[in-house]
Amino acid sequence: MEKETLISKDMPHLPKSYWLESVSIDSFPKLTGDIEAEVVVVGGGISGITSAYLLAKEGLNVVLLEAGYLFNGTTGHTTAKITAQHDLIYDELIQNFGKEKAQLYYKSNDEALQFIKQTIKQHDIQCNFIEKDAYIYTNSETIIKRLENEQNAYDKLEIHGNMVSQIDLPVPIKAAIVMQNQAQFHPLEYLKKLVQLFIQAGGHIYEHTTVETVEDDTQPVVVTSDGHKITCKHVVSCSHFPCMDGMGFYFARMHAERSYVIGVKSKSSDLNGMYLSADDPKRSVRTTTLSSGDNLILIGGESHKTGQGICTIKHYEALQAFAHTTFGIQEFPYRWSAQDLVTLDKIPYIGQISSVTPNVYVATGYRKWGMTTGTAAAILLRDLIIGKENAYQDLYTPSRFHAFPDVKTFIYQNVDVAKHLISGKLEIVHKLPKDLANDEGAVVSVNGKRAGAYRDEQGTLHVVDTTCTHMGCEVEWNVGDRSWDCPCHGSRFSIDGDVLEGPATKPLKQIIQ
Ligand code: FES
Repeated sequence: MEKETLISKDMPHLPKSYWLESVSIDSFPKLTGDIEAEVVVVGGGISGITSAYLLAKEGLNVVLLEAGYLFNGTTGHTTAKITAQHDLIYDELIQNFGKEKAQLYYKSNDEALQFIKQTIKQHDIQCNFIEKDAYIYTNSETIIKRLENEQNAYDKLEIHGNMVSQIDLPVPIKAAIVMQNQAQFHPLEYLKKLVQLFIQAGGHIYEHTTVETVEDDTQPVVVTSDGHKITCKHVVSCSHFPCMDGMGFYFARMHAERSYVIGVKSKSSDLNGMYLSADDPKRSVRTTTLSSGDNLILIGGESHKTGQGICTIKHYEALQAFAHTTFGIQEFPYRWSAQDLVTLDKIPYIGQISSVTPNVYVATGYRKWGMTTGTAAAILLRDLIIGKENAYQDLYTPSRFHAFPDVKTFIYQNVDVAKHLISGKLEIVHKLPKDLANDEGAVVSVNGKRAGAYRDEQGTLHVVDTTCTHMGCEVEWNVGDRSWDCPCHGSRFSIDGDVLEGPATKPLKQIIQ
């Protein structure tokens, strides 16, 4: 990783998500004893909350557990586009899996969009839901062919969309492909209402309650890190990285990516659509309206594998430069980042976590499209649990296997893991903890061994062993988020070593100075 650089003058000093800042969120107690339930849902993001709501609506006794607080994962750090236009994917899906599966993928995501729309209408949810067309644009001659192939795929799959030569995003383009009648919203205003409806239906929520393991002998028993047990009939893992592996080897079948979003105010007028570039570097653009009536432009991009890549502040600076050139910036009040999981074949894993644990379900691997796929997951999980037929069960089953592209991607990913495992061990470190300024973090040498140190703004040192507790790779400093990130399978840890993202379940060892 590069040396830490100073944050640009106008940039918020610490990450701040507009969604989390602009909504008041109820808090819920920690679990303090043993209880029973019919279903335990793990994870307080869009798929967990929607699953819990749908299952409680069916009359089931449902408990929702969240390790931190609701919405604090990827759901609180999304761009919140509700669209089945998941980048240029449909031609690829047809090539890899055939027309029927590509069509099922589209339909499940379109149904998720319609579900969100209907739910908002039915409960009169004030969440700034607006229908807009979604565009993927290019300014590169070589990528036009890919857009044309995608257009052919849209035609084959009867998706409403076409190629256009102009968009109202003020960037140079040669062509774009539009998918009509997609939408955007404030995801937390929407989910806040689902939480209320869940509670009204008899559901229970426990925050700051981490699942340590799921025992599954005669019936599932969820065990928390405090040793409390919840005996139940079904467990649904919507915790981003699955809360148990169940011999599913999810850490080897997914990789983690981080991406960045900035929120800027500018004088430019609202945009009619939502936009994504097909060219590198990727840029995702949508707008939202602040309570003051001002327009906030959300610009996302700069994805990279977690724990790998340049100094993370450089990613925000690249988005800032794009915002400046494209819109001009009056104010730059928000910046945040998100973690996404990508499966071997780019289709999420939704269904039984493994054949040996038939009452434990998982939903994960949404790439960057969790608003629709997270909702589609909740509908499918509800159907699996109540025994209702669902047309998308086979498409999403985690036990599927495709020789192509799975094997190729699997080998590529695991060679990359081996490379980082070895290179981290060989690194020679000269920096010492005493060299760190306030609010600076770095890999340092402590008694001749590699360690991670962060000196906080008050001057207190926080030092951890940089060996990841998952499988022993060496974590790297993430200056943008003040965290320790693992380049192998994407685990993330706080400055004191607490687990922020799995697959690791145990904290980094603290080193007392
Ligand atoms: Fe697997 Fe760190 S996440 S070794």
